[in-house]
Amino acid sequence: MAGILNILIVGAGGFGREVYQYLTDMLPLQPSWKFGGFLDRNPDALRSYPVTGSVVGSPENYMPKSDDRIVIAIGEPAIRRKTAILLAGKGAEFTTIVHPSAYVSNTATIGDGVVICPFAFVGPDSNIGAHSILNTYASVGHDGTTGEFVVLSPYAVINGNASLSDGVFMGTHATVVPGKTIGAWSKIGAGAVVTRTLEPGSLALGNPATSRVLYAKPAEENS
Ligand SMILES: CC(C)(COP(=O)(O)OP(=O)(O)OC[C@H]1O[C@@H](n2cnc3c(N)ncnc32)[C@H](O)[C@@H]1OP(=O)(O)O)[C@@H](O)C(=O)NCCC(=O)NCCS
Repeated sequence: MAGILNILIVGAGGFGREVYQYLTDMLPLQPSWKFGGFLDRNPDALRSYPVTGSVVGSPENYMPKSDDRIVIAIGEPAIRRKTAILLAGKGAEFTTIVHPSAYVSNTATIGDGVVICPFAFVGPDSNIGAHSILNTYASVGHDGTTGEFVVLSPYAVINGNASLSDGVFMGTHATVVPGKTIGAWSKIGAGAVVTRTLEPGSLALGNPATSRVLYAKPAEENS
């Protein structure tokens, strides 16, 4: 029989403290979970927040134990990816955080290490790729898809049948209209409304959004 799982949060910054709060809300509903602390390069990251828990190590010196489960609380897609690769290479296992106030369709598919924050919506037959984040009030409509390491900021919306490739970042209140495809590692500025398919590495701003290719994919993607 599985024992108690020890949940570790990677990143003790602002989003890490938010994820800690969500975990605290979930623990009464997850009797087989306990909180094991934060992994952060800065051992003093929580010095000003003593009630939030403590930094128990860094991702670099962490050695996984069989009952450990990891969630990465870092909001920048490329750093999420780099951290996940580092930890997966050591044999770490990841868990998914879904706040109890979020709506997640029972026909949606949710990957490992995903964080679904309070009041987010995940529609039927959608697919959320590993290590993506749906921040507060973010929404993925029916049949919407995200690749891996996609980050939706608060109130970002992917409408039905839209598709975001790996590493896309959507700023707060950004929208992708139904059925459009966003190329990998693109950034959509806060408040932008994307009405067209975007090339990989695009930056899109405004309503309707104008875009240009600006970002390279992470160098290690080619290795
Ligand atoms: C798009 C974005 C990534 C650009 O960041 P940046 O490269 O640091 O850009 P800057 O702040 O230097 O701004 C560069 C120009 O773009 C404009 N700009 C920046 N963000 C914009 C946006 N969302 N919509 C329209 N114009 C924007 C600025 O006004 C500035 O214009 P100027 O050159 O005429 O003065 C960023 O502004 C953004 O929207 N980030 C989303 C943040 C967010 O939602 N975070 C959620 C945290 S939970």
